[in-house]
Parts: sequence; structure tokens; C-alpha cells
Amino acid sequence: MTQAVQLKPESPILSINNIEVVYDDVIQVLRGVSIDVPQGEIVTLLGPNGAGKSTTLKAISGLLKTENGEVSRGDIHFMGERIDTQNASDVVRSGLFQVMEGRRIIEDMSVIENLKLGAYTRHDGQVNQDIEMVFNYFPRLKERTGLAGYLSGGEQQMLAIGRALMARPKMICLDEPSMGLSPLLVKEVFGIIEKINREQGITMLLVEQNANYALKAANYGYIMESGKIVLDGSKAQLLNNEDVKEFYLGGGNETRKSFKNLKSYKRRKRWL
Ligand SMILES: Nc1ncnc2c1ncn2[C@@H]1O[C@H](COP(=O)(O)OP(=O)(O)OP(=O)(O)O)[C@@H](O)[C@H]1O
Ligand SMILES: [Mg+2]
Repeated sequence: MTQAVQLKPESPILSINNIEVVYDDVIQVLRGVSIDVPQGEIVTLLGPNGAGKSTTLKAISGLLKTENGEVSRGDIHFMGERIDTQNASDVVRSGLFQVMEGRRIIEDMSVIENLKLGAYTRHDGQVNQDIEMVFNYFPRLKERTGLAGYLSGGEQQMLAIGRALMARPKMICLDEPSMGLSPLLVKEVFGIIEKINREQGITMLLVEQNANYALKAANYGYIMESGKIVLDGSKAQLLNNEDVKEFYLGGGNETRKSFKNLKSYKRRKRWL
């Protein structure tokens, strides 16, 4: 790994520039995706099932290779360094950690052992101190002394986020942290994500289907459909956008139309 270069104040900490992603050499999933995440902010990536959100995070984290996928065009920079050509462990070492969909904790290890795994890239002797820091954010994890497999879904999500904190990252990408959680727990987990961002200054990219919570937590949002960004804007712009309200914030059961079918929707030039 090379030394990270100093960022200009106005440069985003993460910059995805016009990437395409292909699985198995033929299945094109992302079609020219560009996303900027400013340092210290929470940015959310929203979109329906199959849009390509997890693929975007895997491209960032160097995890496509394990699924026979690759970034076939464009580039991704983190802290001024190109990362789409790096492997997953180098990306973690550069300070970018991903909490994957489905949590992926180690079920037959204890909470503390799982947390220590998150610190595998560190050799600074402050691991125990950081375990206490994680327990401060997630006090109920401290009470769970058995195997992680016996934790509830919400507790496993907390453990997955705690494990990310153990790497002392500059940025965390979270893939659907609200998945499978009760409304009360979703609120709690999002509250903690905001608190971590505020107190630790950790930049977050939050992939979500739960647009209500994600947009409230975020400074800026992108909406992805069928492998393309169809809309982006500040929290206020998106919360007040009529189409976003109808399709993402309504919470109704009506079959959701696509932005592509809307007359009012004009794709912005920069995405063409
Ligand atoms: N390893 C893979 N090989 C081939 N196709 C894949 C692979 N992973 C994902 N895809 C396809 O890529 C598309 C995008 O998938 P992705 O998981 O990125 O979507 P998503 O937006 O995260 O959806 P969800 O909200 O359901 O998690 C889907 O059509 C999916 O079938
Ligand atoms: Mg996904």
C-alpha cells in the first residue's frame, strides 16, 4: 500500500467516477455510476431490489472478485488514492470498512472475539479500550456473554457496526442496516449511526431501502434504478421532491412505478 496523499479540503473522501460493473464477463449491472461522498458526511444510496446498490458497495470495497465481477470502466478514489484496482484487505487498511448485507458476524464466536476480528489490521495496543468504546455505543452488547449466534437480529447488526468501529476506519459503508429490524430498533440503530458520525467524524455511505430513515440521517442522497443514478440531491431537496415522496417515502403498498416512466423526470446531463 502506498501512503495516502493529502486531500484538498474541497475534495470528496470517496469519489466514484462513471463506473461500470460486469459479472461473469457478460452481465452488466452498473452503467456509468458516479457518486461523491464528502468527508465527515453521511450520504445515502437508495433504490429498489436489484438496482445495483450492493454491487456499488462491493466495487468500493474490492469484493467483486470473489463473485467473478469487475469494474470494467471508470474508477474509484478514496482519500485521493485509486482503490478499484486494490484488493479488499488493502482497502480496509486504507481506512474504508464495509458492513455487509446480512451482517456476516461469526456465530460461533463471542461478542468480544467478533469485535477483536474487526481490529485485525491494527497493532496499536488499544484494542481493549476500543471494545469499551463500542460498548458505550451499544451497551446491550456488553451484557451478551454467550455466542454471537444467539444474539437477536438487531444485536447482530449492532455487533457488525461495532466490529467496523474496531478497525478505526475513516469511512464506513453500510449495506441495509435496517433490514429485518423492528421499527423501534431501526430508529435506535440509525440514531447510533448518526451519533458515531457526529462524535467520531467517521464518513458514512448508507445503502438503504428504508428511505425515510436514511434521508433523515443523511446530508445528501442518490437514487439508483437499474444500475444508474436517476436522481441526486441534498436531504431537503430529496425529502421535498414530489417523485421521491410518491415512490420512496409514501410507504403505501401500491406497485411502485419507476422514475424512468415519469414525464416530469428529466435525467440530469451529468449522468448521460
Ligand atoms: N454475483 C453476481 N453474479 C451475477 N449477477 C449478480 C451478482 N450479484 C448481483 N447480481 C445481479 O446484479 C443486480 C444488482 O444486484 P445488487 O445486489 O447489487 O442489487 P441491490 O440494489 O443491492 O438489491 P437489494 O435491494 O435486493 O439488496 C441484480 O440483478 C443481481 O441479480
Ligand atoms: Mg443489496
